[in-house]
Order: sequence, then structure tokens, then C-alpha cells
Amino acid sequence: MKILRTITEMRHACAQARAAIGPTATLGLVPTMGALHQGHISLIRAAKQQCDIVAATIFVNPAQFGPNEDFARYPRTFDADCALLEAERVDLLFAPFVEEMYPLGAARTHVEVAGIGDRLDGLSRPGHFRGVSTVVAKLFNIATPDLAFFGQKDAAQVAVLRAMVEDLSFPLQIIVCPTMRDPDGLALSSRNQYLTPEQRSHALALSQALAATTALAAQGTHSTERLRASLLDRLKASPGITVDYVEIVDPKTLEPIPDVLNGALIAIAAWVGQTRLIDNALLSPLAQ
Ligand code: PAJ
Repeated sequence: MKILRTITEMRHACAQARAAIGPTATLGLVPTMGALHQGHISLIRAAKQQCDIVAATIFVNPAQFGPNEDFARYPRTFDADCALLEAERVDLLFAPFVEEMYPLGAARTHVEVAGIGDRLDGLSRPGHFRGVSTVVAKLFNIATPDLAFFGQKDAAQVAVLRAMVEDLSFPLQIIVCPTMRDPDGLALSSRNQYLTPEQRSHALALSQALAATTALAAQGTHSTERLRASLLDRLKASPGITVDYVEIVDPKTLEPIPDVLNGALIAIAAWVGQTRLIDNALLSPLAQ
């Protein structure tokens, strides 16, 4: 695996990898912030299956963290990450320093997806999705992938990035991979490392509440209001959980919907101690 630290090196390495294969070569990009777990690895494996060349990126992007968020203490485990990526036979790893991505300290030009970017996490974390879409646009311009892989775990991020790709005509396809979970249901997240054993057991309330709400919908409760109220009651009754948001929305636009008949995204953000966790369930359209 080649490790590239500068934009120039990365562009060159991508071009070289393509040239070695020929005009039909496909390049898959897997953007990450490191502290890799099996969720990230599932994206790498999907990329390996679908592309000739796989490039991963590790960049803890300051622009997507708010002033009081965990940028400084976000886990950085570069050597272990490299070993995992090597084992998956990743071809290229782009791991720039902050000064390489933001030589002026911050971007002057931003990509902002109006509407979608201000919903769910965009509402709770103002400026978050502007930071995400700006850095992902930059990574797309640097690596010029054919396919880019993202996790359903970050459902709002997927909606924002799909809209960005459509609006700015990026010549690539976004592939979304299912959420990987621990056997007890907890969605894998780099932030799970912050949890004490007691908090980790409290955090199970998120996936359990989602499963109960999904079951309720399958049993015939279709009203968003009723499903949301039941989900909220459940979470409020769970020890150690402080709800940030509970939303049932259109998965593409993140707009509110009256019922789940045409499919829905059930999304939760909640604090467990000082740690903010997110999880979601995607309901398929119901046969009518
Ligand atoms: P990060 O949180 O490191 O996640 C990188 C990718 O892994 C994202 O697409 C995310 O949805 C996916 N992922 C995380 N947990 C997952 C899980 N349990 N199952 C499946 N996929 C999972 O998301 C980001 O980084 C950043 O916002 C980024 C896109 C890299 C831009 O900075």
C-alpha cells in the first residue's frame, strides 16, 4: 500500500495506478477519519469487490467539528489503521496533514447543500455538513474516483453527499453500504471508544428502540407521529440516554413525512454521557 501525504503525490499515484491497468481501470474511494473498525472495513471490502484500484483516505477534518466538539481528542490510531488497510490489500492511502488540505488555515470556498445540509445532524451541529461536503468535494477532485463508498450509518451524510454529486455533476457514483454492528446491536463507531462499560450498555437503547419501532411499523402503525412518539418514549425511559433528535423523514430529502408507507428513515442522535451517538433504520416502502 502506498501512503501519500500531499495532494500532488496522491494525484500522481492515482494516475499511475490507472495507467498500469489501462483505460478501463476503475478507482474506488473510501473516505474516513481513521480509528478504523469493521464498519470502515466493510466499505473497503465493497470497494475491493467492485473496483480495480482502491484508495482510502484518513483525514480528521477540522472543518466538520464545531468549536466545542471532540476534534482534539478524536481517536487517532494511524499505525493500527495502516495495518488493517494493508491486510485488506488497499492500493493507496491518502493521509494528508491539516496544512496540506487547508494551507490558509481554513477553506475560502465551501460546498453547502442548502436544505438537506441543515436537517438532522446539520441542525444539531451547525456547519457540520458544510465541512463534510467541502472536504469530500476536495477528496473527489484529488482522487477522481469512479465509485465512492459511504456507510448507511451516517444516513444524513449520504443524503447530503448524493445531492452534492447530483448538483455539481461529479462524474462518479456513490455506493452506500449497510451499517455494521456489534453482535448485541450497537452500531460500530470510532466514538464507541469513549464509552465506559456502563455507558456502552446504556447505548444499546438506540438500536433496540429502532428495532422496536421498525417492528411497530411492520405490524401496521404507519403514522409518523405515532411511531415517533413511541420511539421517543422508549428512549426517554432508557437510563443514561439524553435524546438530541428523533426524526422520521424522507431518506432522500430528510424532510418530514406524514406516514411511512413510501419508505422512511428513522434517525436518532443521543448523548450517552459526553458522547454523541447516532443510529438509524431504513424502512422500505410498504406494499399497498
Ligand atoms: P468516518 O466517521 O470515519 O466514517 C467513514 C465512513 O465509514 C463513512 O462513510 C461512514 O458512514 C462509514 N461508517 C462508519 N461507521 C459505520 C458502520 N458501523 N457501518 C458501516 N459504515 C460505517 O464519515 C466520516 O468519517 C467523515 O464525515 C468523512 C466522510 C470521511 C468526511 O470527513
